[in-house]
Amino acid sequence: MSERWTPDSWRSKPVQQMPDYPDLKHLGEVEAQLASFPPLVFAGEARNLKKQLARVCAGEAFLLQGGDCAESFAEHGANNIRDFFRVLLQMAVVMTYAGAVPVVKVGRIAGQFAKPRSSPFEKRDAVELPSYRGDIVNDIGFTVEARTPDPHRQLMAYRQSAATLNLLRAFATGGYANLGSVHQWMLGFLKDSQQSRRYKELADRISDALNFMRACGLNLESHPELRSTEIFTSHEALLLGYEQAFTRIDSTTGDWYATSGHMLWIGDRTRQLDHGHIEYFRGIRNPIGLKCGPSLKTDELLKLIDILNPDNEPGRLTLISRFGAEKIGDHLPAMIRAVQREGRAVVWSCDPMHGNTVSSTTGYKTRPFDRILSEVKSFFSIHGAEGSHPGGVHLEMTGQDVTECLGGARAITDEDLNNRYHTACDPRLNAEQSIDMAFLIAELLKQGRAGKTSPMPAAAGL
Ligand code: TRP
Ligand code: MN
Repeated sequence: MSERWTPDSWRSKPVQQMPDYPDLKHLGEVEAQLASFPPLVFAGEARNLKKQLARVCAGEAFLLQGGDCAESFAEHGANNIRDFFRVLLQMAVVMTYAGAVPVVKVGRIAGQFAKPRSSPFEKRDAVELPSYRGDIVNDIGFTVEARTPDPHRQLMAYRQSAATLNLLRAFATGGYANLGSVHQWMLGFLKDSQQSRRYKELADRISDALNFMRACGLNLESHPELRSTEIFTSHEALLLGYEQAFTRIDSTTGDWYATSGHMLWIGDRTRQLDHGHIEYFRGIRNPIGLKCGPSLKTDELLKLIDILNPDNEPGRLTLISRFGAEKIGDHLPAMIRAVQREGRAVVWSCDPMHGNTVSSTTGYKTRPFDRILSEVKSFFSIHGAEGSHPGGVHLEMTGQDVTECLGGARAITDEDLNNRYHTACDPRLNAEQSIDMAFLIAELLKQGRAGKTSPMPAAAGL
């Protein structure tokens, strides 16, 4: 692994989960064209996110990462992006206020298009076709034409990512995210729910606090922190040819950065030590994530950490555990101990989605909300017991009122799934379930802090 790294050195290694493009000439032309396009993000932003993640690593901030399982070409509209951003803001404000901790906001968005699959082929009746691998690769329709990997889709994914990121930046800094608008982020379809009442109460308290500060003579308009926020982008960097095309040298430092998004992660299916994905990731300087599932052995994890974060830089590496509610207790404590024993600085994040997928009685791929919550609770309590920081969560969620995950305050049942099951891939938390989750996390953050601060001595009479 000490060999020289180049943006294309992954090509000499075996790779998993890459599509078989029938037209390699076309693929080469597209990759060359992508390499000539402007980057989506710039290196300074990735460094800024890394700094903020270093704060998460030190227990001084919390990482909220979330978005669609897979973005789609068909659902690329302003309302969709706004609704996602709005629910992310609501969650962040709940966690920042009730949990009293800065929240680092990272979307699974503006580039989350490529999907790993458990089987390269899908069979229906007697017909076998290549599996759907995300809109950046092929189309979900079950025909030969739709399923044939088409390089042109990479150009479409790039353009969609650019447009999405542009709108997100506008929302984040152009006034939409102003804390003074905290009431206006309320979603129409949530009006009479328990979550909306809870949210409204919290928003009232924030308004009171702002009014109090104003009455004290503070000019709130002169504080950009109150008027705007920062949102970063992230995706699973699965399609290495695409990623290579956006790997650029940062002129200020001379280092290589992935510029297709701020943070990239490595999937649980593509983390083989001597394979192409790990080779690619070791050379870029962005903050990166590593999905850790039940099959990951601790010695293998330590080797991966050696390769991916040799300088033990805090904020560089986020370990995103995805064990499932029933298995987290068997795996996470040993992982934490191994990392602590070796003195490795990592951000610990919890993906409570991917280990909790089940089939509903009505035949849908779903996730019970209770199990999702249960994995998050275990994540916090295990970190509490091990003396490590529960640094963040990684969620599949949408701002839409879908019915994909079972349960939640509105108790979505097996029969309800059929109503608005819209995902092109995995089941997502809907807006209401997402806000529910934010309140729970805020509560856990508060408890965690109460456990850490030493109690005032009674004699002080406070
Ligand atoms: N700038 C701060 C932050 O992003 C405060 C803030 C402004 C905020 N608008 C927000 C926090 C919206 C959450 C949601 O944390
Ligand atoms: Mn998924």
